[in-house]
Amino acid sequence: MKRFVIGFVSGAVVLTLGVLGYLRLGFADVRADAPTPTWITRWTFSSVHASVRRTVPRDLKSPLPASDEALIAGGKLYLNDCVGCHGAPGQPASDFGATFYPPAPQLARGGTLYSEVQVYWIAKHGIRRTGMSAQGSSYSDEHLWQLAAFISRITSLPPSVRDALAEKAGK
Ligand code: HEC
Repeated sequence: MKRFVIGFVSGAVVLTLGVLGYLRLGFADVRADAPTPTWITRWTFSSVHASVRRTVPRDLKSPLPASDEALIAGGKLYLNDCVGCHGAPGQPASDFGATFYPPAPQLARGGTLYSEVQVYWIAKHGIRRTGMSAQGSSYSDEHLWQLAAFISRITSLPPSVRDALAEKAGK
């Protein structure tokens, strides 16, 4: 038992020193334009999702009635402020969004796996150490819920909403 404890403690100390040395000696690559290894993409994606699932209060729900008006209002906000990184409906992927590490997900193309409530929470609080900043001080709660309504349906918008937004985009 004693040997096991000594072995375990030594292993933990060597591992900790190894990680600290790796970081202190500058081996961690900090370039934002380096290719992202698949395991990092998967690992960060699942960790961020797990954290969002755990942190969003279970009883939180949108106070807005489901309506085209809310989707159009959210779409207008999205086209003003989020589009530069997350891409516009019917447009090529955002080059600017690709300059972040991790890159900004192209919501207009692929939608999101997050629920409406989770999108609201991410928009409000941001995601630490990424290009996704907290928007809680820039938007009222009502606007954040409108954005969430729009983003969570961005790939399946009713034609009436798409038309109203195309008009706004001048197309
Ligand atoms: C400066 C670039 C930038 C802008 C502008 C930006 N975002 Fe983001 N956003 C990001 C990045 C980068 C991520 C990815 C974070 C990650 O991988 O954990 C992200 C992730 C998200 C996600 C999670 C989506 C998913 O499926 O993974 C949501 C929701 C989101 N942003 C909402 C918004 C909203 C709403 C706005 C506008 C008010 C906005 N973002 C503006 C860079 C940006």
